[in-house]
Amino acid sequence: MDKEQAKKRIEELRKDLDYHNYRYYVLDNPLISDAEYDRLLRELMDLEEAYPEFLSPNSPSRRVGAKPLEEFTAVAHTIPMLSLQNAMAPGEVVEFDKRVKKLLGVENVDYVMEVKIDGLAVELVYLNGEFTLGSTRGDGFMGEDITQNLRTIKSIPMRLLRDHDIPIPDRLEVRGEVYIGKKEFQELNEKRALSGEPLFANPRNAGAGSVRQLDPKITAGRKLNIFCYAPGELVGVSLITHFHFLEYLRKWGFRVNPFVKLCRNIEEVMAHYAYIRDMRDTIPYEIDGTVIKVNRFDYQAALGTVSRSPRWALAFKFEAHEETTIIEDIVVQVGRTGALTPVALLRPVMVSGVEVKRATLHNEDEIRRKDIMVGDTVIVSRAGDVIPEVVRVIKEQRTGKELSFAMPETCPVCGEKVVRPPGEAIRRCVNINCPAQIKGSIEHFASKRAMDIDGLGEKLVEQLVDKSVIRDVSDLYYLSKNDIASLERMADKSTQNLLNAIAASKKPAFQRFIYALGIRNVGEHISGLLAERYGNIEKLMEASEGVLLTIPEIGPEVANSITAFFRDEKNRETIERILAAGVEIEYKKEGRKPLDGLTFLFTGTLKALTREEARKRVEALGAKQASSVSKKVNFVVLGEEAGSKADRARELGLKILSEDEFLRMLQNP
Ligand code: IVH
Repeated sequence: MDKEQAKKRIEELRKDLDYHNYRYYVLDNPLISDAEYDRLLRELMDLEEAYPEFLSPNSPSRRVGAKPLEEFTAVAHTIPMLSLQNAMAPGEVVEFDKRVKKLLGVENVDYVMEVKIDGLAVELVYLNGEFTLGSTRGDGFMGEDITQNLRTIKSIPMRLLRDHDIPIPDRLEVRGEVYIGKKEFQELNEKRALSGEPLFANPRNAGAGSVRQLDPKITAGRKLNIFCYAPGELVGVSLITHFHFLEYLRKWGFRVNPFVKLCRNIEEVMAHYAYIRDMRDTIPYEIDGTVIKVNRFDYQAALGTVSRSPRWALAFKFEAHEETTIIEDIVVQVGRTGALTPVALLRPVMVSGVEVKRATLHNEDEIRRKDIMVGDTVIVSRAGDVIPEVVRVIKEQRTGKELSFAMPETCPVCGEKVVRPPGEAIRRCVNINCPAQIKGSIEHFASKRAMDIDGLGEKLVEQLVDKSVIRDVSDLYYLSKNDIASLERMADKSTQNLLNAIAASKKPAFQRFIYALGIRNVGEHISGLLAERYGNIEKLMEASEGVLLTIPEIGPEVANSITAFFRDEKNRETIERILAAGVEIEYKKEGRKPLDGLTFLFTGTLKALTREEARKRVEALGAKQASSVSKKVNFVVLGEEAGSKADRARELGLKILSEDEFLRMLQNP
């Protein structure tokens, strides 16, 4: 390959990778397998290494995080980033609508409604379609340059998509909200608890803290995301309405929130607000209200700004998920891994419609950091399906009668010794026969997402263990009618139901079985990776740390938990007893294949293979063959004397492979 060809190929790879990245992170609808993506990325990185003169900060290879900064540079916003006026009650929204119509002197105004994302506002600047600057909101006039960090957020385009019939502006400023999802937030805090780092109070703080890191590698590790929702300065494109603008954002490749609605009147606004409020707990990120915006840009301009908020927009917020109550006591729970967790018992309080009586305090460092005492008046919050939390103590309310709390030196359940390994924030009970651990591991084993044994909940497990009917999970599969009938409140029918539920759990998918074992640090996601890599339980039981570490998402800590678990004779026996009782793990017939879901089209004459052989080869790797050109085709393989199909494929912008490239792909899919 000469320099010219390398340059061309680099450009082509960047364009393809940008597009696949967009399919994956923005549309959540990938076109190619991860393996294929990695292959393209590898090819690009190799070429960039061989031809450093073509390096570019916006290359898809640069999304892993650049060198740490000494400090952030200040950035002035071309147009100030304003804040929003808030409304809490429907009456205030009606007033807003009246005021808008009166000021404009019109009868009817269209509004665009969006959700109000609880994150950190940022501004992205694109010059001729290239991402050039990203900044925080700061005080609205001056922010900080966080360009490097924003490059690591995969749903932010580095170059605008050009495949559509809309122009690329000379200058485009886009505002949006960077946030961290609820699940990602919990995982992040769990990790921090394990390593003894202070926890983030809520997803907003976690998001803000992650974006303002001097070392972009830290930001890259934080699973941040973005929704874009507002223009800054636009040069070289003119738009009539906000709704249109959002449409353009989507076409340029930005991630725009799907819950956008064009409302023709205030009744539609109210209805959409109620809809969003009622579904807010089901979406995977935090929102704290809706935003109502006048749709027409000329109306927005006419309405203008007062005291740093636009007169054309309003935040219609939800009731806060926060209340004040009193910590009546702090108790210590022992989990299935032996971890001791302090839990606050609260004077019951309603937090947005749900009674809250307990809140986790995580660990002793958290208690110290928040300076929590028994008897304190505190603010508690409940964020969607997240466990209630103590946000902070209202120290002004202290009377002097509050009692400080210390973690016990022995296990509150079995009385055995408790240890806190160096570098960890968690104390653990070391007794593997501790009833709390046994109960916890059985409950976990039976839970919905594990073996899904319907009806085997906390109360029943408690009795089964306390009465020594079972000692570990394998005993479940050897239970008789008599064993169960001896328990309280178990009539014939409920006994039979339980036995049926246990029998029904005997064909678990491999991934669920792994998850059910309750290996430390192995959640559902890691279980899936292990199932994929190892294929069956026998192989997994012999996994070595070295091989585990070749799985990209598995680090030393997780690898160590896995090998330690399977080294333990007791665990091996438990698994063998489960299998001996007739539990049949369902293995996928074949693992995922490297070209799964892809479609190839062959045209012209291939030199090395016949058409038929080519078809068999791609099918063996999981792909399909197409007979006609369409957008559904992922790769068009050009043989000699290819005819009109090749032209048509080029028109559609499909990916075209030479025979050599195709053969290389077969060798290294
Ligand atoms: S529009 C002048 N739209 O709320 C209007 N803001 O209180 C500029 N926010 O700083 C903002 N979701 O951080 C807008 N869909 C949305 C939003 C949103 C969240 C945040 C943003 C802004 C703050 C205003």
